[in-house]
Amino acid sequence: MASNGQAEKVAEVEENVGDNGDTVTPWDVQSKSDKGIDYDKLIERFGCQRISDDLIQRIEKVIGQPVHPLLKRGIFFSHRDLEFILAQKEAGKPFYLYTGRGPSSESMHLGHLIPFVFTKWLQDAFDVPLVIQLTDDEKFLWKNLTIKETMKLAKENAKDIIACGFDLNKTFIFSNFRYIGQSPEFYQNIQLVAKNVTFNQAKGCFGFTESDSIGKIHFPSIEAAPSFSSSFPFIFGEDSNIPCLIPCAIDQDPFFRMTRDVAPRVGLHKPALIHSVFFPALQGAQSKMSASDETSAIFLTDTPEQIRTKITKYAFSGGQSTAEAQREKGANCEIDVTYQYLRFFYDDDEKLQEIKKVCTSAYL
Ligand code: TRP
Repeated sequence: MASNGQAEKVAEVEENVGDNGDTVTPWDVQSKSDKGIDYDKLIERFGCQRISDDLIQRIEKVIGQPVHPLLKRGIFFSHRDLEFILAQKEAGKPFYLYTGRGPSSESMHLGHLIPFVFTKWLQDAFDVPLVIQLTDDEKFLWKNLTIKETMKLAKENAKDIIACGFDLNKTFIFSNFRYIGQSPEFYQNIQLVAKNVTFNQAKGCFGFTESDSIGKIHFPSIEAAPSFSSSFPFIFGEDSNIPCLIPCAIDQDPFFRMTRDVAPRVGLHKPALIHSVFFPALQGAQSKMSASDETSAIFLTDTPEQIRTKITKYAFSGGQSTAEAQREKGANCEIDVTYQYLRFFYDDDEKLQEIKKVCTSAYL
């Protein structure tokens, strides 16, 4: 059973807005600060753990290679029970990866790629199976889309996800609308979770209100169930209880806080997690890149010309309070969006350092 050293906060996280005005739920991320979300505060509020340098070193020892830049640079910055997963690997015992995508747009954007790029690296480094949930049902419940439309979006997004290069023999991508009818075991686990979470807990965890549809209130049990290996009997066996590691952006944590609360009560492993920060919108780090706001996002289908236009037209750049300060001090890379994008995608540490130096010096 996964270690349970830390106090789990399920019903305790009653407020979805922190005292600093940061809002983080699976459906809404906003910060009052131009530096974006205060992640230290969020870690404390959610009750997860920051990934320490020691832990990174331990990962490198276990996999016998350097960690991915997204981990080294603190973009994946927080976790739950990652030590337990490493111990499994050290003992030669199995675990699997679970991540997902809510298909709300035809094309995915740069921010959507982050968990998949990182998950692909984890799959290679640990050589483990992976399941990917496409929550077309979630998008049907939350967006103004028909069932058919969300299923089509799931199919389109699956292509973008496959293009990340996952091991075909070790990866299962599924649409909820399709898979639930094919796997009684998946549906059974959904109900196992649903029975063990009260409306009060769901309200505390997700901010649901009495006027939300009962579909929304039940949905978290559907995102929870793939954390249990027995949802996939054709991969792991019917009565299996293989530990799971979930790479995701930290806004998904409430689903798995809930899952971790239920797991020991039904005799199953708690899923472990590794969380990323959000990918900033073109306009700046107060909000994350969003497919519903065209001008905030760079899509995988944008042409180089469209990307150039979006960057020059919308990308928040500079960051000093006056033009004069900007000339004297150069940009503030902490909030300069183009520099932040390089931190996510430009792997060469030395060159990135050079770019930062140029950007943060006075203009001549
Ligand atoms: N709800 C997620 C979204 O809207 C999709 C998702 C389902 C997911 N299962 C997951 C994301 C597990 C991360 C990990 O994008």
